[in-house]
Amino acid sequence: MKFVVRGGKKLRGEIEVKGAKNSALKAQAASLLFETPVEIGNLPQIEDVSRMNELLTDIGVQAEVRGERGLRLHAASVRRTELNKDIAERLRASIVLAGPLLVRAGRAVFPHPGGCVIGKRPIDAFLDGWKSFGAKIKEGAGFYEIKASSLRGTDFTFRKVSVTGTETLMMTAALARGKTILRNTACEPEIPSLAEFLNRSGAHIKGAGTPVVEIEGTGGKLLRASGAFTVIPDRIEAGSLLVLAAALGSKVAITHCNPEHLSVLISTLRDIGVPLETGPDRVSVREPRTLESIDMQTREYPGFPTDLQAPFAVLMTQAQGQSMIFETVFDGRLNYIEELNRMGARIVMCDPHRILVHGPTALQGREVESPDLRAGLAFVIAALVARGESHIKNVYQIDRGYEKIDERLRKLGADIERIA
Ligand code: EPZ
Repeated sequence: MKFVVRGGKKLRGEIEVKGAKNSALKAQAASLLFETPVEIGNLPQIEDVSRMNELLTDIGVQAEVRGERGLRLHAASVRRTELNKDIAERLRASIVLAGPLLVRAGRAVFPHPGGCVIGKRPIDAFLDGWKSFGAKIKEGAGFYEIKASSLRGTDFTFRKVSVTGTETLMMTAALARGKTILRNTACEPEIPSLAEFLNRSGAHIKGAGTPVVEIEGTGGKLLRASGAFTVIPDRIEAGSLLVLAAALGSKVAITHCNPEHLSVLISTLRDIGVPLETGPDRVSVREPRTLESIDMQTREYPGFPTDLQAPFAVLMTQAQGQSMIFETVFDGRLNYIEELNRMGARIVMCDPHRILVHGPTALQGREVESPDLRAGLAFVIAALVARGESHIKNVYQIDRGYEKIDERLRKLGADIERIA
């Protein structure tokens, strides 16, 4: 499957942001903490959500799709404690399941999680965390077995801030025995949203969304869902659309988003000359007169999201002057620049974490391949900006995180087709 994009067209109109992949996946995993069914709403229709459902049903959770964006998950019992290897290896977020599975069933077996080129990152924080709850860890050829007859609350400090690490250990602690303090935790908005739902359902979590989270475990008592979990708007999708609109929009409104979750991007875009208006759940972008260059570095929330780094670099190819982009969160997340340079960008790698983007440059349509979902969308943006036709291969990577992006962009006037 590939996208064929003919670039250079101005975009106009409104586009609605879907539910956040990285909120939905955690709520799906959390269903293992419940004795009652869990209803999830505003679910994005994306590949990763389907893969997570497959992992859950494989271990015995009943999953029922309800309407267009609803899902009911019931973990009445757990049939297996081994995650399906093929699926788990393809989905980094599979590791988030391991915490709830461990605390629910006393055992979790899973392969090293992957997903894409940056998916295969270390999981030491998870393993150290579970050990500190008293779990025993066995590492075999390509798999981990975590066991604990009972998990006791702990005081654990993350050496490096980790989003899924925070979520996984927070869920583990929710059913553990006694009090847990997690320190140097991630503050991404998906975390307090998950904690709020767990608290409504019988968990005792304080401080989610801050660098210290305290959890009073239920001692094995399962949660009972009180109301549905509503997936929060995808701030990365919203941010990518803002970047696209800044590059090509004559007038574009991004709706159903939460501008508060995008404050650093919004202020950066304003600084470089993009006229933006924000409402409670929308941001409107008008065509900038000129785009100025700027230096930027990625940071944990509330800093500039690493997931917007590649789309932003594409925008900077259209700005006047040199922009330094410093990726501080991940290794190997600048590898897309070769492909962009083949499209006519002038980007120099200064060291494995820093690039210098020289602008403005006219981009030319080319055949490119998505290395991961965020760089994949950056290529879509580059192709829409470029003159001529681009072919973007490996669309699965983009479908993992963005719902029917081709159809939705077409409604704004983009010339993009999906071809088998
Ligand atoms: C989450 O990944 C997101 N994924 C990522 O989105 C996002 O880019 C990332 O947070 C940062 O915002 C999900 O929520 C499913 P980390 P996560 O653990 O939690 C290192 C996307 O495209 N680290 O916060 O896996 C790690 O190598 C994805 O949707 C360790 O060293 O990221 C990285 O350098 C991509 N040891 C840094 O910490 C560990 O045990 C931050 O990673 C864990 C992480």
